[in-house]
Amino acid sequence: MRSFLYKALTKLDKLDKRQIHSLVYDLARENERFESLMEATVDSLILTDTEHRVTLYNHISEKFLLLSRLHGLYGRKIWTVIADKDLAAFVRQTLEAGEIAMNRDFVLEVKGEKRMLSATLLPLTLNDKVLGDLFYMTDVTRLRTQEARLRRAETLASLTTMTAGVAHEIKNPLGAIGIHIQLIKKALLGKTSIDPGLILKNIDVVSEEVERLNKIVVDFLFAVRPVNIKPERINLNSLMREILDFIKVELTENKIKLEEKLTRHLPKIFIDSKAIRQAILNIIKNALAAMPEGGTLTIATGKKDDCVRLVISDTGMGIAQENLDKIFEPYFTTKEFGSGLGLTNVFKIIKEHKADISVDSQPGRGASFIISFPVPESEQQLLEYGLGREAEQ
Ligand SMILES: Nc1ncnc2c1ncn2[C@@H]1O[C@H](COP(=O)(O)OP(=O)(O)OP(=O)(O)O)[C@@H](O)[C@H]1O
Ligand SMILES: [Mg+2]
Repeated sequence: MRSFLYKALTKLDKLDKRQIHSLVYDLARENERFESLMEATVDSLILTDTEHRVTLYNHISEKFLLLSRLHGLYGRKIWTVIADKDLAAFVRQTLEAGEIAMNRDFVLEVKGEKRMLSATLLPLTLNDKVLGDLFYMTDVTRLRTQEARLRRAETLASLTTMTAGVAHEIKNPLGAIGIHIQLIKKALLGKTSIDPGLILKNIDVVSEEVERLNKIVVDFLFAVRPVNIKPERINLNSLMREILDFIKVELTENKIKLEEKLTRHLPKIFIDSKAIRQAILNIIKNALAAMPEGGTLTIATGKKDDCVRLVISDTGMGIAQENLDKIFEPYFTTKEFGSGLGLTNVFKIIKEHKADISVDSQPGRGASFIISFPVPESEQQLLEYGLGREAEQ
């Protein structure tokens, strides 16, 4: 239809009244179809020209964005017609910086009710030519409420396992304290002379066990504390180089060879580097413990599907098949002095990032921990639009 119209335009002076009438009629029909399509969607849609001035919007956007209709909306800069200050500032900043934003959540008041809306701002293109901006918003209130409910249920379930673990852990020290208090009582009530040395020994055992109890409770509180992550857009390779620099000396001291397989041109990911650093160090610490006679630690990064992957492998003793699905459980340890909370914390941090962790192991040959971080859609878009140069490091 479009090419036909352009062709007709060049011959407009050659057309008779009837032909022009039919052309305008077709145009009006196409416009009607287009408008009904805009109105049929449940999302708010606003289109602008290259100067960010509103050229088209649908009815639902008035409801979502509480657009002021006082002076008409067409021709006005898009951010000036958005009532919510935060949202207007976000739209203005994104457009003025020439950036793309995908699925940013905002809480807006719609007709006195709080709604969670997900906003996306993209260039509107046709045949590689930028025509303006496309701004659309989807109501994700229901989706986000369901997600929060699911997360809460998962937390509650893991809390139950944790509590059972604590109950189990405190049984031994409590038992020992009970026995030694009985022994002290017996010694004090004894007919023969009291041996202060023996009583002191019993008291020492009691205070050691109290200390153990204290550690169990402190570790437990640390493990159930929600991790408050502050994600930032970073390159995983840079973070890995920083971590490896930090542990290089320890590796050499333990006769461990380091193999770095960092894939170039990784898209950036949104992570809290402090928390992820802690998780990675926990995994590396376990790998070192699994190779007491030395070995090789391999760190590999790469991109698979829509994820950035990190694989940490060792050539240590490996994990027995029956323990593979227990290692992330709180208090599971095969070490004499292990707390069994290291990987529980790793799991918590990884899940908080909406990332995934899995493990692969051949007993006697080593173990590999694989972490998959989702690549934000905005990064994928940047790469697709060829704007992701800075993401390639
Ligand atoms: N790289 C690995 N190779 C072999 N076994 C491992 C490896 N990583 C973890 N494990 C197993 O998983 C268990 C749980 O690990 P986790 O880090 O949670 O606790 P821990 O290391 O035992 O104690 P802590 O981390 O408090 O020192 C370990 O005891 C060990 O049996
Ligand atoms: Mg550990």
